[in-house]
Amino acid sequence: MKILLLGSGGREHALAWKISQSPKVEKLYIAPGNAGTKECGENVGIAVCDFAAIAEFVLAHGVNMVVVGPEDPLVKGIYDYFKADEKLQGIAVIGPSKAAAELEGSKSFAKDFMQRHSIPTAAYKAFTVAEKESAYRFLESLKAPYVLKADGLCAGKGVLILSSLEEAKRSLDEMFAGMFGDSSATVVIEEFLDGIECSVFVLTDGKDYVILPEAKDYKRVGEGNTGLNTGGMGSISPVPFATAEWMKKVEDRIIRPTVDGLVQDNLLYKGFIFFGLINVEGEPMVIEYNVRMGDPETESVMLRLKSDIVELFEKVDAGTLAGTAVEFDERCAVCVMLVSGGYPEAYGKGYVMSGFENVKESILFHAGTAEKDGNVVTSGGRVIAADSYGDTRAEALEKSFKAANEINFEKKYFRGDIGFDLQ
Ligand code: AMP
Ligand code: GLY
Repeated sequence: MKILLLGSGGREHALAWKISQSPKVEKLYIAPGNAGTKECGENVGIAVCDFAAIAEFVLAHGVNMVVVGPEDPLVKGIYDYFKADEKLQGIAVIGPSKAAAELEGSKSFAKDFMQRHSIPTAAYKAFTVAEKESAYRFLESLKAPYVLKADGLCAGKGVLILSSLEEAKRSLDEMFAGMFGDSSATVVIEEFLDGIECSVFVLTDGKDYVILPEAKDYKRVGEGNTGLNTGGMGSISPVPFATAEWMKKVEDRIIRPTVDGLVQDNLLYKGFIFFGLINVEGEPMVIEYNVRMGDPETESVMLRLKSDIVELFEKVDAGTLAGTAVEFDERCAVCVMLVSGGYPEAYGKGYVMSGFENVKESILFHAGTAEKDGNVVTSGGRVIAADSYGDTRAEALEKSFKAANEINFEKKYFRGDIGFDLQ
C-alpha cells in the first residue's frame, strides 16, 4: 500500500513514525513534512490545501490512501474533493467529509450537534453583531468567569476567558469588530466549566469506532500552567483520572451518542474524532470536538498504540471497524515540547540545532525543523518533541527532560513541569 500523509508538525512525524512501522506499507510520502518525517518516508513539496497538486501526485504515484493530519484541508473539503472525482474516488481518505468537519470548523454547529444529541456540554448561545443586545443580556445571566468563542477556525486562539462582566462585554464588541476576522462574526458565549481537561480519541468508520489511548496536554507556555496559550507544550498518556469507570461514562454519554448522531444526521465520517473533555466533579463534559488528532497528544498516543494503525485505517475505509480490538502499550508515554524562545509571540527561526546523537533513551519528533546547508535548523515556534516511555510517568518524564537538555539551539525553552498536576 502506498500512503500520502498530509501535514508538517510533530503530530505528523509521530503519525509517520507509526505508519512506517506497518508491514502493509510499501511507500510513505509526507506532504510537505519536515526534517524528521523524511526518516520515515519521502517528503513531497506540496501544500496541504493544494488539492489539485495532491490529486495529481496521488494519481502519478499510485497512492492508495491519503491520511490527513491538520484540520484545514478537512474543513475545506478534501474528502469531498476526492469522492466527487471518478479517478480519485477509489482512494481512501482518512478524515471526515466537509459537512462533518464543521464539528471543528464551526463552534455553533458543534454546540447544536451536542444539544440535538443530548451530549453533555456547557450551556451556551450563539450571537451575531445584530444580536449584540441579546448577547449582553445573556452575559448578564451568567456568572463569572465568562467564556467567549469565535465561531470559526482560529488556530486554537479564538477562545477568551474574562473575569468581569465589563471585560466580557468589551471583548465581545472587539470580536464582533473583527478581532479574529470573519471567524468571530458569530460568537458563542458559554458557561464556564471548572475542571481538569483530557483528550480522548477515536477512529470511526462512520458507524462504529475504536477508542485510542487518551492523553492530557499542557497548553500554557509557563510552568504551573501560567502565561499565554500555545499549541501545546507537552503531553502525557495515560491520564490517571481516566479510569475504566470514567471512560465508560465517556463512551456511554459522549462517544457512542456522537457516532450515532453522525449516522442520524447523515454526516459522512471516516477518520479521527478528538473529544476535548473536561472532568467536572467526576462527570465528563465536552469542551470541543476536533476532526483530527491533537498535537502534542499524538506524540504520546502513538507511543501507546500497539495495533497496526494502517490495518485500522483500512477498516475505517472499508466500514468494517465493528468488533476490532485495539492493543495498548501498558507503559506511560510522555512528550516534552522544545520551543523557540518568545513563542507563542514573536520568535526567531533558522537556529542551527545540535545534540541529536546524545539522545539515547527518547524518541525525537520534529515539529518546526527544516534542513539548511546540511544542518537541521529551527523553522517554527514548536521545534521538536522529546518523547519517552517509562514504567511510571516520573521515569518517562526524567528521560524526556534529559533529552530536552541534550538538544541545543539558541533561545531553546521547554516546560520542566509537564505532568506536575497529576497524582
Ligand atoms: P477550545 O478552543 O474550545 O478548545 O477552547 C480552548 C481552551 O479554553 C480549552 O482547552 C479550555 O481550557 C478553555 N475553555 C473552553 N471552553 C471552556 C469552558 N466552557 N469552560 C472552561 N474553560 C473552557
Ligand atoms: N492539543 C490540542 C490540539 O491539538 O488542538
